[in-house]
Amino acid sequence: MKLQFYLALLFLVLFSQIENTKPGNGDLLCRWKDNGYTYDFSPLKNTTGNYLFKKDDIKMLYVFNVCEATVDEPNSICKCCSPSKEYTAFSYNTTTMSCKEWGEWKNGYTYKYIDPNNDFVGVTISNPKSQTSSSYSVAINLFCNEEETFNVFSVYEYDTIPPHMQINAASYTACRAEPTPTPSPTPDPYFCQTIQSNELYNLAPSKKLYKFTTPDNKYWLHPCDYVVHTSGCDCCTAGVATGWIQRSDGSCQQLGHLDTSTWLPLPENDPREGVSLEYYVKTSLGHKTRSMKYDFVCDPATDGDITEINELNLIPPRTEITLASKYACPQDPLNPTIYPSPTVKSSPTSSPSSNTGGLSGGLVFLVVLLVGIACFICGFFVHRYRTSRSNMYENL
Ligand SMILES: *[C@@H]1O[C@H](CO)[C@@H](O)[C@H](O)[C@H]1NC(C)=O
Repeated sequence: MKLQFYLALLFLVLFSQIENTKPGNGDLLCRWKDNGYTYDFSPLKNTTGNYLFKKDDIKMLYVFNVCEATVDEPNSICKCCSPSKEYTAFSYNTTTMSCKEWGEWKNGYTYKYIDPNNDFVGVTISNPKSQTSSSYSVAINLFCNEEETFNVFSVYEYDTIPPHMQINAASYTACRAEPTPTPSPTPDPYFCQTIQSNELYNLAPSKKLYKFTTPDNKYWLHPCDYVVHTSGCDCCTAGVATGWIQRSDGSCQQLGHLDTSTWLPLPENDPREGVSLEYYVKTSLGHKTRSMKYDFVCDPATDGDITEINELNLIPPRTEITLASKYACPQDPLNPTIYPSPTVKSSPTSSPSSNTGGLSGGLVFLVVLLVGIACFICGFFVHRYRTSRSNMYENL
């Protein structure tokens, strides 16, 4: 019984080794179809040469292509960027004149969103080198920018296991264009994140009910959602407005309608860091009768507190709310450290050689012959399992 177990295990190991020698099954067309939209990265192929990125401070030169293998560089630029036409990137240490090769064109590309919670930040496209113990893959973070074709900001080598080269660039090809215009031009008002002036603000943790009392008024406020719990309010209605005011005379008024949400950067002359969110109330005829504005102000010391509410006697009247929160602190969407660190490729059944150590070659042959037939169906299911696994474990 125990022997059978080891034989089956051995077969699994051999099976996975055979599978590992196949070329990668990434995409070679440079297109990613996701949820009804097709990204086309093929305009980024450099058809006349390679992309070059120099880091003078550490005397490194990076030579790469996107969706295409590299081509030969003149010796005066890189003496060892070869064999080209096979690898998609080289890093060249100009001090030692030595090269490292990264990514293999024939393995194709895999795609995912840079920010899994926000399709509009951009796309990571990854190209692995064949699966050896020192596999060097290339990951390109393409940040959506309508105005750039391919503008490289930075290139890093990461000492992950296996290591990868990371290229950060801006490109219109990573922008998701909606196939059909949605009925309302406002983005999802429940989605409490925005990018303003190239800074990412994630206020999702600030989506909650705030109650606040000033000498004149009481407030019930729920950014990015409706006020549902109106306890303590004599005349508020649940589920119709994103904010309510109750005045000292006992009258209530809605402050804003959820579907009118607009994000704005703080004005240039405002020294505070943060972002604003506006709503207004409109009548059935489309007239604005009130407006409200949150100033979410960056304060690393607090999870979120309303510090001030002002009523402005404008036409229409306006309520301005200052809310200090650490979630209002801007994050750099280009800084790779705020995103989950790259997953390391690992597979429970492919750990090499050690299991075969105690068995002679003749026994291995016998085992493959006997168990191979017996376990064919078993292997078939393992193959399917591995296929779905390898889709999960993408190399960054
Ligand atoms: C380039 O090679 C030199 C000499 O081996 C080494 O000291 C340096 O760290 C290398 N540069 C990089 C960026 O790896």
